[in-house]
Amino acid sequence: MKVRRWMTAGAVAVATVAALNTVPATAGKPYDPTAQTLGALGLRHGLQVGTAVNMDALNDADDPQYRKIAATEFASVTAENVMKWESLEPTRGNYNWGPADQLVDFAKRNRQSVRGHVLVWHNQLPAWLTSGVADGSISKQELRELLRKHITTVAKRYKGKIWQWDVVNEAVSDPWDTPPTLHYKGFWAENLGPGYIADAFRWARAADPKALLFYNDYNIEAFGSGNPADDKTQFVYDMVKKLRAQGVPIDGVGAQGHLGTQYGNFNTFQVTEALKKFTSLGVATAFTEVDVRSQMTEGVQAGNSEEINPRLQASAANFSVLMKACLAVRSCLSYTVWGFSDNHSWVPGWFDDPPEGLATIYDENYQPKLAYHEIKSDLIFAGPPFVLPRLAPKPRR
Ligand code: G3I
Repeated sequence: MKVRRWMTAGAVAVATVAALNTVPATAGKPYDPTAQTLGALGLRHGLQVGTAVNMDALNDADDPQYRKIAATEFASVTAENVMKWESLEPTRGNYNWGPADQLVDFAKRNRQSVRGHVLVWHNQLPAWLTSGVADGSISKQELRELLRKHITTVAKRYKGKIWQWDVVNEAVSDPWDTPPTLHYKGFWAENLGPGYIADAFRWARAADPKALLFYNDYNIEAFGSGNPADDKTQFVYDMVKKLRAQGVPIDGVGAQGHLGTQYGNFNTFQVTEALKKFTSLGVATAFTEVDVRSQMTEGVQAGNSEEINPRLQASAANFSVLMKACLAVRSCLSYTVWGFSDNHSWVPGWFDDPPEGLATIYDENYQPKLAYHEIKSDLIFAGPPFVLPRLAPKPRR
C-alpha cells in the first residue's frame, strides 16, 4: 500500500524536478526571483510557506498592510487563536464560529491552504470546562465525551477545508517541569491519562477522512541525549512510533520552531537529521510556528544598532537553518511563521522579564528583515539534487 502511494508521489516528483531545472518564463521581462513571494517560491518545491493569522489585525481597517501581506505573501494560513476551544465554545453548547469561518473564507479567496490549530491543548480551554472539572460537576467520563464531541464537531465543520490539523498540541513536559523526568503533562493527561492522545487522533480521523493529522510541539527541532527521560525529541519520537505501531491515524509531526537568539540552537544538519528520523516512522513533518526572539536590552530599545544588528543576524540564521533543513527533507510539507510582523507577535506580551521581541520576519512597519531575505534566498537557490519536491503521505485510515 505504502509503496504505491509513494510511487505516485515519485512520478509527480520527477515532473516537478524537470520544472525546477528551468527558470520560469515571463512575458518579455527578465525573471526576478526576488520579486516573487515566499509562498510562490516555496511552491516551486511543493513546500507551503505559511503564517499564523491574528484575526484582530486582519480586521483592523487602520492596518491594511497586515491584510495585504497575509493575503499575498503566504501559501498557507493558520489561526493563531480563533480555532482554540475557548474561542470556539466560550459558553457551553454555544459555538462561536464567526472568526474561524472568516479565516477559512479568507484562505479560500486567496487560494491558500489552512492548517487547523488546534483540537486538543491544555491552554486556552473555556472556563466552563476547566472549572467544571475542578469543582467536580464534570466527571472524568463526561470530560472524555466532551472532548470526543468537541473534536468531532470542529473537524466535521471544516471537513475538506483543512489541509493539516494540529490534533494534539504540547502533550509532553519539559526538563524544567516537575518532576524533571519527561512525562505527559497538563489538563488532559492529568484527567484522562495519556490514552487521550490516541483517542483524539481516531476521533479526528472519523470526522475528517482527508486532513493530515499532526502532533505538534516545541523544542523538538533536534535530538539531544537520546534518553527519553530528558530528550523531548526522543520522547516524542518514541510516542509517535508507538502510536503508529498501534495503527493510530497520525500523519505528521510538527516542530513549532520557537527559537531564541540567546540560546545555542542547532545547525542545519542536526535539524535535518531529526526530520529524517521522524520521516522514517512514515509520517510527514512540518515547521509550524517559527519565530526567533531576542532579548530587548535597554540598548536595543534605545535603537542602538550595535546591539540590534547581531540579533537580526542571529535571528535570520536560525530562520534559515529551519528552512534549509525543511527543504532538505522531502517529508517537510510546510514552513509556517508564527505571525509575520513584530507589531503583532505574541512574544513581547509573553516574555517580559527580561523583555523579548524582534522575533518575526518583518519589522513593526512591515519592512522585511534580514530573516525574510535569507529564507527567500534559501527557497530561490535550492533545487536538485539535494532539494527535491515534497512527498506527502496519504491520510492514514
Ligand atoms: O481573548 C482575550 C481578549 O478578550 C483580551 O482583550 C486580550 C487582552 O490581552 O486578551 C485576549 O486573550 C489573549 C489571547 O492570546 C488572544 O489574543 C491572551 O491574553 C493571550 O495569552 C493569548 O496568547 C496566545 C497564546 O498562544 C496563549 O497560550 C498567543 O496569542 C498565541 O500566539 C499563542 O500561540 C501558541 C500556540 O497556540 C501553541 N504553541 C505556542 C504558541 C505561543 O505561545
